[in-house]
Amino acid sequence: MKHIHYGKQTINEDDIIAITNAMTNDLLTTGPTAKKFEEALSVYCGAKYTIAVSSATAALHLSSLVLLNNGDKVLTTPNSFLATSNAILYVNAKPIFVDIEKDGNINLDLCEKELQKDPTIKAIYGVHFSGNPLDQNKLKNLRKIYNVLILEDCAHSIGAIYDGVKAGSCTNSDCSIFSFHPVKNMTTGEGGAITTNSKELYEKLLILRNHGMVKTQDMKPWEYEMQHLGFNYRITDIQCALGISQLKKLPMFIERRFDIAKKYDAVFKNSIVKPLYAFDKKSSYHLYVVRVDFHSLNITKVDLFNKLKEKNIGIQLHYMPINKQPYYRNLGYGDENTPNMDRYYKQCFSLPIYPLLSDEEQDYVVKTLMEILNG
Ligand SMILES: Cc1ncc(COP(=O)(O)O)c(C=O)c1O
Repeated sequence: MKHIHYGKQTINEDDIIAITNAMTNDLLTTGPTAKKFEEALSVYCGAKYTIAVSSATAALHLSSLVLLNNGDKVLTTPNSFLATSNAILYVNAKPIFVDIEKDGNINLDLCEKELQKDPTIKAIYGVHFSGNPLDQNKLKNLRKIYNVLILEDCAHSIGAIYDGVKAGSCTNSDCSIFSFHPVKNMTTGEGGAITTNSKELYEKLLILRNHGMVKTQDMKPWEYEMQHLGFNYRITDIQCALGISQLKKLPMFIERRFDIAKKYDAVFKNSIVKPLYAFDKKSSYHLYVVRVDFHSLNITKVDLFNKLKEKNIGIQLHYMPINKQPYYRNLGYGDENTPNMDRYYKQCFSLPIYPLLSDEEQDYVVKTLMEILNG
């Protein structure tokens, strides 16, 4: 059996043709194909505006530049990739880590308590963890009652729909961000995007993506003005050609993820391996996370990772609590009261899930996992 990763891209002939065609266009970087990709994403998500960028980290950075000011306080989750809260630090704002729910998502009721205690809190950066969307009704209420800005980190959740609200539609948020890293639900190699329904935010984001440069009609042909400190967070047209091709296949990719999640759910029924949540069509199943109570077993989580690796199976932990990272500890974080996150970290791990994971590979993963756990 060749090595099975926990996540992997699905690249077909049509993707290769799309990329090859893009290579012979006049413009290779952020040109007409990027525009088309942005339009396709807007239509897919149901948001008015989309800005495609070089990564989700760039998307988070740019969003933070337009949403936050120095010193602003932002509620966020410890259960994410580092980039979510790093973006808050990039703009000298202050993350406040809130505990998670049993499904791995930030606990929005605890967020409400924080907002009641401190009305100066500016924003919530929530992640639809594993592809499982945050409760949109709660987001709507928090926004309305506390006038708090909401950023939805949809790095895992493109294709997810919560009661008709598509991830990235920004129905109940100011900005949403996506990642198109190869392990995600669709890929552009590296890449990301921001969606928003605010024209004002959109125009600021466009300028910041390209060095803060502005050109107006009354300027001389060669002139530009730098009015803000921006970045080169552009994405290439080659990547966007891949993005357009992948987006067309996204519904199929998600269906395949559903099949795998359903199969895992069925085989783990009444076993010591508990799915993080029972099959739920709301989720886009970027990750399939399970919980195992290692205390009751003769094996540690480290042993399990190592033994599976010896058998060519790559499981992964999503995520180590961000607030306990040395960099964050040096800033005074790490001792927050997060019992659910602590338990999650001890018990959970992600199993392989991606459209090209064959039935035989799924069976092999399940059989090997159960054999190792049962000693
Ligand atoms: C939740 C989340 N946010 C942000 C990112 C950053 O994505 P990128 O690698 O595209 O910068 C990731 C990547 O793993 C992620 O999982």
